[in-house]
Amino acid sequence: MLYYKLLYISVLLTSKVVSAAPSRHGHPQIQWGPCDPSVVNDTSLSCGFLDVPLDYHNPSVGNAHLAIVKANATGERRGSVLFNPGGPGDSGVSDLGILKELLLQLTGGVYDIISWDPRGVGTLTIPGEIFCFESLEEYTTFFNGTIELTGIEETGNFTDPADVDALLAEAPTMQKKYEELGKKCLNSPNGRYLEYIGTAAAVRDMISIANAIDGPDAPINYFGTSYGSLLGSWFVNMFPERVGRVIINGVPNPVTFATQKPSIYFAHQLVSADTIYKAMLTGCALAGPSACPAASEDDGPLDIDAKFQALLKAAHDAARAGSSVPLTSGQIRVALAGQMYAPAGWARFMNETYPQLVQIVNGESQGNSNDSLTRRSEGIARRSQPLKRTASNGSPSYSIHAITCGDAIDLHGVTMEEQFKGIIDTARNISHMFGASWPAPDYLCGFWPVRSVERYQGPFSKKLANKIIVASNVYDPVTPLAGAEAIASQLGEDAVLVRQNGFGHTTLATVSTCMNDLLAVYMVNGTLPANNTLCEVDKDFALFSGVNTEDILAHLPSADV
Ligand SMILES: *[C@@H]1O[C@H](CO)[C@@H](O)[C@H](O)[C@H]1NC(C)=O
Ligand SMILES: *[C@@H]1O[C@H](CO)[C@@H](O)[C@H](O)[C@H]1NC(C)=O
Ligand SMILES: *[C@@H]1O[C@H](CO)[C@@H](O)[C@H](O)[C@H]1NC(C)=O
Ligand SMILES: *[C@@H]1O[C@H](CO)[C@@H](O)[C@H](O)[C@H]1NC(C)=O
Ligand SMILES: *[C@@H]1O[C@H](CO)[C@@H](O)[C@H](O)[C@H]1NC(C)=O
Ligand SMILES: *[C@@H]1O[C@H](CO)[C@@H](O)[C@H](O)[C@H]1NC(C)=O
Ligand SMILES: *[C@@H]1O[C@H](CO)[C@@H](O)[C@H](O)[C@H]1NC(C)=O
Ligand SMILES: *[C@@H]1O[C@H](CO)[C@@H](O)[C@H](O)[C@H]1NC(C)=O
Ligand SMILES: *[C@@H]1O[C@H](CO)[C@@H](O)[C@H](O)[C@H]1NC(C)=O
Repeated sequence: MLYYKLLYISVLLTSKVVSAAPSRHGHPQIQWGPCDPSVVNDTSLSCGFLDVPLDYHNPSVGNAHLAIVKANATGERRGSVLFNPGGPGDSGVSDLGILKELLLQLTGGVYDIISWDPRGVGTLTIPGEIFCFESLEEYTTFFNGTIELTGIEETGNFTDPADVDALLAEAPTMQKKYEELGKKCLNSPNGRYLEYIGTAAAVRDMISIANAIDGPDAPINYFGTSYGSLLGSWFVNMFPERVGRVIINGVPNPVTFATQKPSIYFAHQLVSADTIYKAMLTGCALAGPSACPAASEDDGPLDIDAKFQALLKAAHDAARAGSSVPLTSGQIRVALAGQMYAPAGWARFMNETYPQLVQIVNGESQGNSNDSLTRRSEGIARRSQPLKRTASNGSPSYSIHAITCGDAIDLHGVTMEEQFKGIIDTARNISHMFGASWPAPDYLCGFWPVRSVERYQGPFSKKLANKIIVASNVYDPVTPLAGAEAIASQLGEDAVLVRQNGFGHTTLATVSTCMNDLLAVYMVNGTLPANNTLCEVDKDFALFSGVNTEDILAHLPSADV
């Protein structure tokens, strides 16, 4: 497949735009200056703002004000690469502060890396973060006594019919709560902006930023991870003639996302999650008690799984018996699901957090509010909340919901009961461990009050000005390989698929010199790898002391538990 490169190298080299003098195109310029230290402290980064139409098809609505960040190229500058970290709803401005070195390395150091806080995100962009409650207290009172705070209680895969009944019995209450929540969001300070938030608008914003920096004729280079890959799939299909060098990494299936119910899309996201859970247990068993205390001498992965199942059952039974429990089985599941993203944290999780979970669930603490175990259980419960970002008053962010649901298909008449039945099916058919994760933003979409004024729903098979790279782990807990395969197949000869033979969310979750080199070679020289290249994770990247990804793959129990 390497023969494609000659054509595209020459195209890119001759159209290289070095200087940022975009005012000659009549496009507004970005005034670069120091970044706001409340968001990013790295003085090697520059920041600026760009005003763009809230509604690109109706300028009378007014403007949005985008916060933009730049990391200068370390080598001789050849242009810019735009970056979106995902979420949706992650702040590009603060994430570039964290990922600068890695992104410069993956792009060969010859591009400025540009990111931004998309509309609905952060404290600097207007409209910024979406908050639907005025305080944490208002939120906890609103959802007091519901699964929103405790998660869903079940064992096995809804093995006990009482768990099915208990969940379905909550459907009317939760539906009412979500309908009210939708209204609260619409009446919140940023509520009037909800219809202008979404992925199609974010793509147009990205084009505006690129126009301001490199001019309206320059090819647009882009690196997107996770939801950033969805944004990338939208970008290359909405503006195929602008496609420069583009890498999407950890890829949501754009066709499913754009055309299916969000709850169905969510179920499809989980197809590899249980395999990754098994990989963690396999690594622990191979490491043995000295490097993974959850393993006893001679334990296999199934023995360690039995310990987790017993832990979940103990927490479940305590809650069902009506005890006030410091941690529910639902919260433990969600905390575990978070571990599936980042194998680099497995040893520490098994070493430190797992013993704490056991202690907390076994009630080896009586809940004095200053007790360290109580503090730890509060910490674990808080971390298990997917609503990560909070306002300074602790109220949770609904930006993920605003973007996901703004993009979603129309869902008139969806009921909570229907969604709960879907969850039970997902736990039974797709992911026994994580199918019942709650809350997840997708479930709010049926009750979300608006849709974005512009939604892109395909086609995803446009002819692109340049070939892109679609990268995925073989086992990714939320953006399974099938998503990457789907967009590669839609784009046909314009997409080269590359896979990393390991676990975690995006190829950046573990280290593969093979993958990192081929991405950098493409970004710098336009050289494409062979289609379907499979890169191994570096042998010296240990997941547990003395255990690497290759060891785990060699011992992974068959995909079916
Ligand atoms: C930047 O530094 C200031 C002063 O030390 C601190 O208050 C602020 O939280 C820091 N910001 C970030 C994003 O870390
Ligand atoms: C980034 O590069 C530009 C152009 O060379 C330069 O003017 C600017 O000072 C640099 N910014 C930082 C923060 O080093
Ligand atoms: C939640 O409900 C319980 C029982 O009805 C009550 O005791 C508690 O004060 C409530 N908590 C909040 C934060 O409203
Ligand atoms: C596990 O914890 C022990 C004691 O806290 C510590 O000495 C050891 O380095 C930890 N190992 C890992 C892999 O985190
Ligand atoms: C917890 O500690 C704080 C400060 O150390 C103290 O003011 C408070 O009374 C303690 N609360 C309990 C329940 O012991
Ligand atoms: C899931 O399994 C149930 C039986 O438990 C079956 O009725 C249903 O059709 C399956 N759903 C999917 C999406 O495969
Ligand atoms: C539930 O999970 C068990 C393994 O834990 C599996 O054998 C069984 O088939 C699952 N049940 C359904 C209905 O999928
Ligand atoms: C690469 O292979 C995938 C299937 O794995 C296919 O969908 C895609 O079209 C191929 N791309 C090229 C450039 O042949
Ligand atoms: C790009 O090509 C040049 C010239 O062939 C070569 O020297 C350089 O190492 C290549 N860069 C990368 C990152 O592959």
